[in-house]
Amino acid sequence: MMIQKTAAITENRPVSGACWKMTLAVGTDMAAAARPGQFVMVRVPDGGLKPFLSRPFSIHRINKERGLLELLYRVVGHGTRQMASRCAGQTMELVGPLGNGFRIEQPFKNIAFVAGGMGVAPLVFLAETLVAEHGGALRARAFIGGACGEDLLCCDVFAGLNMDVAVATEDGCAGCRGFVTQPFENAIKTDSPEMVMACGPPAMLAAVAKISAAADIPCQVSIESLMACGIGACLGCAVKSSGNANYYKHVCKDGPVFAASEIDLDGLAASHGAGQRAFSVRKS
Ligand code: FES
Repeated sequence: MMIQKTAAITENRPVSGACWKMTLAVGTDMAAAARPGQFVMVRVPDGGLKPFLSRPFSIHRINKERGLLELLYRVVGHGTRQMASRCAGQTMELVGPLGNGFRIEQPFKNIAFVAGGMGVAPLVFLAETLVAEHGGALRARAFIGGACGEDLLCCDVFAGLNMDVAVATEDGCAGCRGFVTQPFENAIKTDSPEMVMACGPPAMLAAVAKISAAADIPCQVSIESLMACGIGACLGCAVKSSGNANYYKHVCKDGPVFAASEIDLDGLAASHGAGQRAFSVRKS
């Protein structure tokens, strides 16, 4: 169910480095319709001379009872600077929830969440939903990576859900020095999860998918993409599917969450630059 809203901001504040959190009063209808892994197209009204076109943001958290929706975003350009300049009481325009989220039909009991940088954004909504549904029966672990300490987001949220949290930073200032794939790969050797849910830069997703496939563990990945329409009309968010190089899927309509085996993640990582740091920021 896609809903269009003008929603009041209830809170908008920095959380770490250039990362901000915005809470919006979207109403109980949009909050109830949202599923983990889905996204909303967001626009700043009255953008002035350089209007802020709608852009996709993962749904970070939902409060169904109060009709609240949270976005986690990094201030990286004109649009997100405009977002950060907005205060409680001002409004944003939203369309959503959009896309296909994480598939959680089975009652998984042992799940590994792997996040790089802003990739924690949709995984928090997923983790909170699964804990609410399965409570103590769920044994889940979170692996969170970043370039430096301030890139490590939401570790306290996962820990507060009684999850073991392993962190890695490229500069070694917190957790293991290096990529988050290392503690993830080590951990699953001795305790194999039933499902891996990952979100982060393409290079990280490709590595997580390979490690999971080698261990015969199904893996779902949330892919981010530039999007113009968010509803499958402009074809601007195409990604190559695996197997058939001439067949494309559309992140907004077919995803943004895919089985890792569906997408040519190596090709996606290469197209984002071979030198991309595995824990660089998630666009927002
Ligand atoms: Fe337009 Fe996906 S954003 S088709």
